[in-house]
Amino acid sequence: MSENLFHNPHLKFDGKVPSGKVSWQSPSNIALVKYWGKKEVQIPCNPSLSFTLSESKTQTLLEYKPSDEAKNSVQFFLEGEEKPSFAEKIKIWFDLLEPLFPFIKQLDFTIHSKNSFPHSAGIASSASGMSALALCLCSMEKKHFGFSGSDDDFLKKASYVARLGSGSAARSLFGGVVSWGEIENLPGTSNLWGSAQTANIHPDFLSFHDSIIIVDAAQKKVSSRIGHGLMNSNPFAATRFKQAKSNILELITAMKRGDMDKFINITESEALTLHAMMMTSNPYYLLLKPNTLNIIERVFEYRKQTGTPLAFTLDAGPNIHLLYPDAVKSDVHKFIDSELKQFAFQSMVIQDRVGKGPEKLSI
Ligand code: PMV
Repeated sequence: MSENLFHNPHLKFDGKVPSGKVSWQSPSNIALVKYWGKKEVQIPCNPSLSFTLSESKTQTLLEYKPSDEAKNSVQFFLEGEEKPSFAEKIKIWFDLLEPLFPFIKQLDFTIHSKNSFPHSAGIASSASGMSALALCLCSMEKKHFGFSGSDDDFLKKASYVARLGSGSAARSLFGGVVSWGEIENLPGTSNLWGSAQTANIHPDFLSFHDSIIIVDAAQKKVSSRIGHGLMNSNPFAATRFKQAKSNILELITAMKRGDMDKFINITESEALTLHAMMMTSNPYYLLLKPNTLNIIERVFEYRKQTGTPLAFTLDAGPNIHLLYPDAVKSDVHKFIDSELKQFAFQSMVIQDRVGKGPEKLSI
């Protein structure tokens, strides 16, 4: 599949350049099989799989007007506060998008973004933020130039656009269970966009909750960009990429069968492998905190004592995501309150669950 697939020199205004606004809300996602390691430009070294979340999301309003002297400026406001550093990153992404949307160069943009999760939680907003903005750009194309494809084609293109901003954002365009990256024997999967994998997944998994225990709210010291880059020289990288490819097939099969034990086994192994890759990079680094390990040990013990189907996973940081089916929600909440909250930063726990994907907002 060609990287030029969505390039379109015709998406350029002839004559009067319009003003307007468009708004989308898009969710964050939590990876079960982790994307860690990439090639240029945002091509993953292995396929990944995630749950789309419901409550952790970004609302974005994109305003555009004809650019004065082709200045093509971008202003970015997060919760009403101007963030020039974010605007810079978006400008770099927009430059990359020019062959897809040549109209970008004819406009000035003001972006207003707000996240549903507390700013202080240290949760990355790139997946929800980039996917919301990608949808705004695709809606602009549809409004001003028309879009002849289906709704699925629209989301595929938005996923492709989001991927160029942040890899994991490619998975936030669809609800339920989503993959990104070419998977052997799974037609429709691609390194260029995410694909919904919810069909035939056992309903128990679609009712899953994600309680996010905030262990440390500080911004992480090593960015994902640097972390991905360090995989180029990690001595275990090739084995890791191979493992992820087999894990994703096994996990999808387990989730179709309703095999909870297998789900827990692969999900937790993936979380620990992600951090093992950080510890075995050079320079090596460690994002886990003592309280991350305290929580993991309690989860192991609780599961041994009660048999409750409860898995943990980790992002590129110290915070714990606890994943469990709706049927055990009240038991798990009691366990969190009595045993885990003591390890959370300011007792902070964000309650989320598997969600349905993005939504266009009326303005
Ligand atoms: O999308 P990025 O470049 O921020 O990388 C995300 C990497 C992980 O969150 C650690 C794993 C994943 O697949 O989401």
